[in-house]
Amino acid sequence: MSSLIKSNILDYPIFIGENIFPELENFLEKYSSKKIFILVDENTGKHCLPLLIARIKFLKSAKILKIKSGEKRKNIKICKTLWDKLIFSNADRNSLLINLGGGVITDLGGFTASTFKRGIGFIHLPTTLLSMVDASIGGKTAVNLDNIKNQIGIFGNPKAIFINPAFLITLDKRELISGYAEIIKHALICDKEYLKTLKSTGVKDADWNFIIKKSVEIKSKIVKLDPKENNIRKALNFGHTIGHAFESYSLENDKNPLLHGEAIAAGMICEAYLSAKILKLKEKELNEIISVISPVFRQYKNFEIKRLIELMHFDKKNVNKKINFTLIPEIGKYKIDNEIEENLISESLNFYKNLPQRR
Ligand SMILES: NC(=O)c1ccc[n+]([C@@H]2O[C@H](COP(=O)([O-])OP(=O)(O)OC[C@H]3O[C@@H](n4cnc5c(N)ncnc54)[C@H](O)[C@@H]3O)[C@@H](O)[C@H]2O)c1
Ligand SMILES: [Zn+2]
Repeated sequence: MSSLIKSNILDYPIFIGENIFPELENFLEKYSSKKIFILVDENTGKHCLPLLIARIKFLKSAKILKIKSGEKRKNIKICKTLWDKLIFSNADRNSLLINLGGGVITDLGGFTASTFKRGIGFIHLPTTLLSMVDASIGGKTAVNLDNIKNQIGIFGNPKAIFINPAFLITLDKRELISGYAEIIKHALICDKEYLKTLKSTGVKDADWNFIIKKSVEIKSKIVKLDPKENNIRKALNFGHTIGHAFESYSLENDKNPLLHGEAIAAGMICEAYLSAKILKLKEKELNEIISVISPVFRQYKNFEIKRLIELMHFDKKNVNKKINFTLIPEIGKYKIDNEIEENLISESLNFYKNLPQRR
């Protein structure tokens, strides 16, 4: 039996472990006479909801709100259908929404609940690795506007988060690995020892309880210091300036586009190269970063540098047309707000393109 961990860093508790159900039941008791809604997508409805209901019997009477899976559903039209369903089922200010799913469900459900009747309570039960260590933590909720990501959103905190690594069993391997990129990022920006642990176990022998706890702790501490991303929350953007450009480029050009974490993995290598150029990250550490990322992530080769740089200019983090980066002077430390010239960015993209394929 694995142990149960409770994190109190943020204003709401985060429970982690395969024994979360008694805590969850305890928490839900105060809602026993209230209306409870559970938001799922097709996959979490099939794989995760039965496990939840088997463990917490009274949730059988909860109203299930089910949507199709995928990023496309994170939009305002789906919100409207959810708000309509809440109204139709007489949801009121005392109702609770349980978001059972990946980042699409936690972002969409968080936004729907935070805006319904000026905000009803919600909790997250994240079911993808990415949502366990990243999307569910930190109070950002949003939907996309047409194809522009996260344009409509609000900061809204859940009442609590319950993370059960057992949900990962049914998650597609590629999705699992995608989430792993954010975990590597946490180690690179905050904790050198953590990177050593990740390197020694790899994904295959990963101790998810330990890793989730560690990553939740790292993200929570950063969010606690800067909840609204005025300054140090930008640390979490390491790998994301170039990574987001890879992600958009791949969406434009590939039949089977890169997942977010796959794009971030490539972005982290390029941005580690920039860190070596700008902040004197040691070559030995640059090579170490490559040796952690390369065996896990497929290398992305077919891209056009000019278009990638154009895409970076659209990034909302940029001010005055300069491209802004979070970089690392050494493994385990970060420096925000580095503005970099296009020719050096091109150089980093070429460096990445010419790496030998190791996977
Ligand atoms: N709010 C934030 O701070 C934040 C941070 C990072 C990412 N995000 C958002 O998170 C979203 C991506 O999240 P994601 O990668 O979890 O995507 P997702 O929610 O689309 O989940 C990925 C796929 O896995 C399926 N799935 C989920 N759990 C499963 C399980 N246990 N077993 C089997 N299948 C399962 C889903 O149905 C989906 O098909 C993006 O919209 C991104 O913008 C938000
Ligand atoms: Zn990310």
